Amino acid sequence: MQIIHTVAELKTALGNASQTAFVPTMGNLHDGHIALVRQAKNTGGPVVASIFVNPLQFGLGEDFERYPRTLAADAEKLADAGCDLVFAPDVAEMYPEPQTFQVQPPLADVLCGAFRPGHFTGVCTVVLKLFGMVRPRQAMFGKKDYQQWYLIRAMVRQFNLPVEILGGETIRAVDGLALSSRNAYLSEQERKQAPGLYDELKRICAALAAGDEDFAGLEIAAINSLTKAGWRVDYISIRTQATLMPATPGDRHLVVLGAAWLGKTRLIDNREVSI
Ligand code: PAF
Repeated sequence: MQIIHTVAELKTALGNASQTAFVPTMGNLHDGHIALVRQAKNTGGPVVASIFVNPLQFGLGEDFERYPRTLAADAEKLADAGCDLVFAPDVAEMYPEPQTFQVQPPLADVLCGAFRPGHFTGVCTVVLKLFGMVRPRQAMFGKKDYQQWYLIRAMVRQFNLPVEILGGETIRAVDGLALSSRNAYLSEQERKQAPGLYDELKRICAALAAGDEDFAGLEIAAINSLTKAGWRVDYISIRTQATLMPATPGDRHLVVLGAAWLGKTRLIDNREVSI
């Protein structure tokens, strides 16, 4: 497996490859990322993973500086999973001049976007740049970042980008906690509490499946229950899978999304349900 750091090296390494499968990441890889690499491997083309902690998608006071950078360990995991090439540029390589052209996605100010202004502009902009550099045939994104997955698909569709977006199911620890690089920030006590967010999403899904259509009531009950257990909740929201707009009675394919803080760690999760 090759590890390269510049766009010029990437261009040489890829040559005329037209069947590349791409897994963009910010590194500090866990089994969720590795599952995406294995999924990419199944496409039969060469597999490229990128590792880049993108400053454009972090707000002031967020964890850009302390985000774990673990290139050597990541490279080992990627090599084991059969990745062919790792692209790990630095900030100057990705942004050699101020990034004055930026993608302004829709829905960027709801759900996570309401609490992380500019985040999805930063995500879509860097992903568009990476697509231009890697020119993948397929790209894999974890569905744990559901809003991101939704917006990337919309961007690809609306800009007619020649790449197919595939979603990877969320990989969970045995107690249900969704794997995330940010889980490493949790204290021992917080880690024990952390599956509580997914428990609430599951409870809501069970109620929806049983015919409950009091969406606001279900959201409020979950927020209250988490708050009582010591969480600071950003949102719990029942949306439609197709539009990511708030669900209304009669909608069938739903997704319940949540974001909440345990101490200084912000966790997100979601669960799809069809009723
Ligand atoms: O999901 C992530 O790790 C990042 O948002 C991504 C897609 C690699 C863009 O920086």
